[in-house]
Amino acid sequence: MIYSFFNNSSMSHVHHFIFPLYISFKLPTDPFISLTDAIIREYPHSHKQLRLFLIFVNLFHALKAVSSYATIVSACRSHVYRQRSCQIISMTDEKSIQAEHVEYIYEESSDKVLKGVSLEVRKGEFVAILGHNGSGKSTLAKLLNALYLPTAGRIIVCGMNTSEDALTWDIRQKAGMIFQNPDNQIVATVVREDVAFGLENMGVPHDEMVRRIDKALEAVHMSERADSAPHMLSGGQKQRVAIAGVLAMEPDIIIADESTAMLDPNGRKEVLDVIHRLNREKGITVVWITHFMEEAAEADRVIVINNGDIALAGTPNEVFSHVDEMHQMHLDVPPMASLANELRNDGMPLPAGILTVDEMTEEVCRLLCPSN
Ligand SMILES: Nc1ncnc2c1ncn2[C@@H]1O[C@H](COP(=O)(O)OP(=O)(O)OP(=O)(O)O)[C@@H](O)[C@H]1O
Ligand SMILES: [Mg+2]
Repeated sequence: MIYSFFNNSSMSHVHHFIFPLYISFKLPTDPFISLTDAIIREYPHSHKQLRLFLIFVNLFHALKAVSSYATIVSACRSHVYRQRSCQIISMTDEKSIQAEHVEYIYEESSDKVLKGVSLEVRKGEFVAILGHNGSGKSTLAKLLNALYLPTAGRIIVCGMNTSEDALTWDIRQKAGMIFQNPDNQIVATVVREDVAFGLENMGVPHDEMVRRIDKALEAVHMSERADSAPHMLSGGQKQRVAIAGVLAMEPDIIIADESTAMLDPNGRKEVLDVIHRLNREKGITVVWITHFMEEAAEADRVIVINNGDIALAGTPNEVFSHVDEMHQMHLDVPPMASLANELRNDGMPLPAGILTVDEMTEEVCRLLCPSN
């Protein structure tokens, strides 16, 4: 409505000012700052007045939010360049994980926590798993790693049936897990020794061990902290050490159970960037359990678990277009998908399937600054 009014009025230039203000009231501070940041970054030559106004509203938001110097600096940051990898390994048709009619009942209760879950994950795929608290995500993760065995049905990981006792250690080496709390995963007093822990248990020879540790720490950009004490590291750095510990085992699959939940925004970004890079460059299959919708939006595929069964599955675009069903399952959709929905209802001709700040930036700039 507001968009249409200004767009149709003779004061067409005015909507360059009003529109960002309008969006600013629709979005919480963080997504708004990300959006305006991205507009300025991606379209450095966009309409001068629009840019100035975005910077002004950005500052206003930052001041309103915390009044902290760091926030203002980050809000004004206008040149952030994303590093893109040069070599990308795409996913194949080969299956990394197959779960067939899997059920699980905890000993302490008679209720089925998983009620016949069937799914496949292809080699090199990045699959996000969403679900309300208690829906069965962690139980599923532990079944994929052979920490639990299905009460009924079967799970095949890299061609190995998790119910075969003799294969348990091979499965755990092929499918490494990272958990939520970085502190619970650290077992040694020096980073390098912590990464070595799994290898020592596997009886890997010393020279091979050193090679693998160096390579794993390099892959998570922690080589410089190899001789540090883990308790001196930030949460994000500790999670990267945990990832290095898994990587040293040369896994095919990484299963992460809410591994960014306890981290601050910087730590979350560090960990997610590392995991995406390992997926792209080394072709490692990723099963990423999360409560953060914007993390799921970056996956190849999203699976939504509800009450022990799969409720929705598909690309992020497909899954997040089921806004009402997601809300019924007490799940949200990414802020940009929800904003796009509201703006469409207000008459703004935005296409379907906007999920990320980048996609929103492109569409908003296309509408506001068609000449760019
Ligand atoms: N050790 C256990 N013994 C009995 N019941 C359990 C056990 N662990 C989990 N449950 C129950 O199984 C169900 C699924 O739990 P699970 O931890 O897999 O859910 P989740 O989706 O990971 O939840 P969250 O988002 O809170 O991490 C819940 O009802 C939970 O109470
Ligand atoms: Mg859980």
